[in-house]
Amino acid sequence: MEVFLKTGRLILRRFTEDDVGHLFDLDGDPEVMRFLNGGKPVSRKEIAREYHKRFEGFGCWAAVEKFTGEFLGWFEFRPREGGNPGEVELGYRLRRSVWGKGYATEGSRALIQKGFTELGARRVVAQTMAVNLASRRVMEKSGLEHARTFHLEWEDPLPGTEHGEVEYALTKEDWERQDAARREQLPGKAGPVEQGFPDVP
Ligand SMILES: CC(C)(COP(=O)(O)OP(=O)(O)OC[C@H]1O[C@@H](n2cnc3c(N)ncnc32)[C@H](O)[C@@H]1OP(=O)(O)O)[C@@H](O)C(=O)NCCC(=O)NCCS
Repeated sequence: MEVFLKTGRLILRRFTEDDVGHLFDLDGDPEVMRFLNGGKPVSRKEIAREYHKRFEGFGCWAAVEKFTGEFLGWFEFRPREGGNPGEVELGYRLRRSVWGKGYATEGSRALIQKGFTELGARRVVAQTMAVNLASRRVMEKSGLEHARTFHLEWEDPLPGTEHGEVEYALTKEDWERQDAARREQLPGKAGPVEQGFPDVP
C-alpha cells in the first residue's frame, strides 16, 4: 500500500485497481454527485478509464479508515490548471454514510499542512457551487476564506447554478498565523499540533 499521508483517523493512499468498484459505488450515489453532475450515474467503464489518472503531480488519493481500511472516498490536492506557481487546488468526495463525522475537514487540514510545510505550496484554493454548503463549510473549517463568487456558462446547468460558483483560498502566511494561534491555545503551549485532531491511539 503506497501511503501518502496519515491523520488521526485516515490514511490517504494510492488508488489500486480494486478501487474501481469503490469509485463506481461512490459516484453511483445521486446525493454524492448532486453538485457535480446533478446526480447522474457514472459508468464503470468511465471510472475504470479515469481512476488511474488520479495520481499525478501532487495527486489524488483514496481515503480509507485508518484502523478498518474501509474505503471512505478520495481527496485531491494538486497544482491548479493554469494557476499561479505554488497554487494548489483542494477537492474531496466521500461516501454519504460517513458524512458529518469531520473526515473531510481532517483530511483537508492534513493536506494543507503538508502542502505548506513540505510540498512548497504558497496558496491553497478550493471551488464549489455556491449552494454546496457542506463543501463550503469544510473549506471554512480548514481555514480557507471566501475569495470570490463567479458565474460560468454551462450547456446543461445544474439546479443552483444561478447562485454561481465560489472560490475559497488560504495563503501560506495566513495558515502560519492560524497555526501559531492554534499552538497558543494548547495547554502548556507545547508539542506539535496535528491538524487540530489528536492521533487516536
Ligand atoms: C462535501 C463533503 C466532502 C463533506 O464531507 P464531511 O466529511 O461530511 O465534512 P465534515 O464532516 O468535515 O464537515 C461538514 C460540515 O458541513 C456542514 N453541513 C453539512 N451539510 C450542510 C448543509 N446542507 N448546510 C450547511 N452546513 C452543512 C456540517 O454540519 C459540517 O459542519 P460542522 O462541523 O460545523 O457541523 C461531503 O458532503 C461529500 O462528499 N459531498 C459530495 C461530493 C462533493 O460535493 N464534494 C465537493 C465538491 S467541490
